[in-house]
Amino acid sequence: MRKIAIYIWMSLISVSLYSQEVNYDENKVPDFQLPELLTTFHGKSINDASAWESVRRPEILNVFREQMYGTNPVHQVEVDFKLVKNKEKVLDGVADLKEIDLIFSNDQGKHTARLLLFLPAHVEGPVPVFLGMNFYGNHTIHPSASISLHQSWARDNPLFLISDQKVDDRSRGVRSSRWPVEYILSHGYGLGVIYYGDIDPDYDDEFQNGLHPLFYKKGQTKPTEKEWGSIGIWAWSLSRALDYLETDAKVDHDKVIVFGHSRLGKTSLWAGAQDQRFAGIISNNSGCGGAALSKRKVGETVKIINNAFPHWFNDYFTRFNNNEEELPFDQHMLISLMAPRPVYIASAKDDEWADPRGEYLSGYYAAPAYKLYNMQTPSTIKSPAINQPRMTESVSYHIRSGRHDVTRYDWAQYIRWADKYIK
Ligand code: GCU
Repeated sequence: MRKIAIYIWMSLISVSLYSQEVNYDENKVPDFQLPELLTTFHGKSINDASAWESVRRPEILNVFREQMYGTNPVHQVEVDFKLVKNKEKVLDGVADLKEIDLIFSNDQGKHTARLLLFLPAHVEGPVPVFLGMNFYGNHTIHPSASISLHQSWARDNPLFLISDQKVDDRSRGVRSSRWPVEYILSHGYGLGVIYYGDIDPDYDDEFQNGLHPLFYKKGQTKPTEKEWGSIGIWAWSLSRALDYLETDAKVDHDKVIVFGHSRLGKTSLWAGAQDQRFAGIISNNSGCGGAALSKRKVGETVKIINNAFPHWFNDYFTRFNNNEEELPFDQHMLISLMAPRPVYIASAKDDEWADPRGEYLSGYYAAPAYKLYNMQTPSTIKSPAINQPRMTESVSYHIRSGRHDVTRYDWAQYIRWADKYIK
């Protein structure tokens, strides 16, 4: 009880600390200018998809790498896949389950992360798959005892009975409300998940644990100013999971949709931007550093996020603390990197911290890139009403009632959207 009280008290303190400098008033949004999507950093206009792909897209990707999420180091690691569990007809017969170890190794050492893959037992396949990361462990997405527990660091959470940074059987299924596994499978989709702490524990230790050290050059002890932080390496790992999915005959690897919530929504966007093999991209309540426009400075800002989570982005990004005007990019450009693939951005009404309006606008302002492919784009700058999803073949969006979370309602929209534009 006492632990729970302290936990709630600490959460309240952090909210009030942030709220001192936070704007939620639309009338106080500064005048800002978004960089032109179809004009290069050298002032050249981009008029067709081929110039977009050969000139503008690469330079946008590069600016996000160098100035925000970080560059992927050149030092190589080998990635091997090992099927460690393969069970048919689990979850009352509706699912086939696989666990695959991704084993990263090179002369610096070895590191392992586990991919959990559920496939619908009733479908011959190959099937499209949703792929995403989770916050506490693969075993938290469903109570099934068939899912292995992880040995990695986990954030203490008395509500989930996680203490001493270790999980045990008691946290099985504690996050099942965010992962309606049977529902997803019943629609003919598979679901792949990785625990993000298996890749890089989510706290600032100057990148001594997790996967980063494998990428250090001789004598290097942490990433350089421009190299990746945690979001960068989480996103990279999703691509490695996709490498595995490409080898699995039961998976339609041209139809893998990358999904993520909140910090892991920032991650799914960054994964989708870099890896064009992802057929669709979902950002659920990703907020600042994800879908929300930074220059609006509504809710969480660049300074707040860099101070609270110094390990998420590269160090270069701190130059824009309280200095969003100087950003040569904004998050509509991240969304534009998804083109011509369908992207779904979702907000929640009570999740003002993530700036729902800014999340909508980044999708809206990404339209010129999709238009180069003659695609239908959102027709109005007005955000749709609560619980009225607006879907198009390019950018789709909804704002759901309720708080920062992933709900059955969100999944129902993602499946409707994927049925229409991906499956
Ligand atoms: C914090 C953080 C957000 C993040 C969220 C989450 O609220 O400020 O940027 O999206 O955590 O990941 O749940």
